[in-house]
Amino acid sequence: MPAISSTAPGKVILCGEHAVVYGQPAIALPVQQVRTKTTITARPAAATGELHIIAPDIQLDTIFESLEPDQPLRAAITHVTEELAIHSLPACEIRINTTIPLAAGLGSSASVTVSLVRALSQFLGHPLPDETVNQITYEVEKIHHGTPSGIDNTVITYETPVFFKKGESLKRLDILNGFSLVIADSGIPSSTAETVAGVRQRWQQNTEKYDHLFAKIGNTVTRVREILRTGHLPDHGTLLTENHHLLCELGVSIPTLDNLVNAALEAGASGAKLSGGGGGGNVIAVVKPETVNRVVDALRTFGAVSVIVTEIAGMKREK
Ligand code: PMV
Repeated sequence: MPAISSTAPGKVILCGEHAVVYGQPAIALPVQQVRTKTTITARPAAATGELHIIAPDIQLDTIFESLEPDQPLRAAITHVTEELAIHSLPACEIRINTTIPLAAGLGSSASVTVSLVRALSQFLGHPLPDETVNQITYEVEKIHHGTPSGIDNTVITYETPVFFKKGESLKRLDILNGFSLVIADSGIPSSTAETVAGVRQRWQQNTEKYDHLFAKIGNTVTRVREILRTGHLPDHGTLLTENHHLLCELGVSIPTLDNLVNAALEAGASGAKLSGGGGGGNVIAVVKPETVNRVVDALRTFGAVSVIVTEIAGMKREK
């Protein structure tokens, strides 16, 4: 049996994080420069059911049985076998490699699950449809993040820009004019589960104030969508900066992220904000081609440990 491989991208949240957990819309984009690859190879000489799992990025080299039932990789494999009603697996080696930085808001956990679920179901001869891959990944995201909105699993499964609302069916996002997005990692690891729990606690203490902030964020996201769809000015960058200030009011930014946002704006970015859970992780900046290098240099100078420039494709053809 030949080895089976499947890959999945990373993702970035353009706007709407946190408010999306409370039913507001958010926009997320796949990031193709960073990916996860799962390769499954049959091991005919090993005993039936022996799954050897190797994931060097999380220092894991073990067999399936030694993982706790709620370990995310074990949970993903169990969901696939239950979905396919397969009771005994052929012995195999499952190797997972990712270039997505962990705990940095680029969707590493959802990307690992999507690539694993796809590779395993294909290895077993029954590739699962996107809808099921998405559903299983959402279940595994709950182990990672507690109460996820579902945005990460959706954008990574479908590998397309999405305008996402919790509980609603997939809405692909139309983008007329492509643009460049700089993603800078602050190098400060952050736990999305913790920042989401923190917002929940503050929301419970002051529901009216937080509902109002969520609605303002939702309104910003809707305006960003409209600008991306129609290509009308003003540039959506300004709205992203507005979104950052609302995230500050939610209490999820930290001085390091604010400094990176300011550095990007001063270097000529048309908008900048933290992206994802906050408390660390990434800052993103919308940049014009002529300012990309200046913004990248400024972010590095202000301490970003890695900077990715990703091109978001638009529908308008180059003349
Ligand atoms: O930290 P990330 O990039 O996985 O993003 C989390 C986004 C939140 O809105 C904060 C949580 C969620 O589940 O949508």
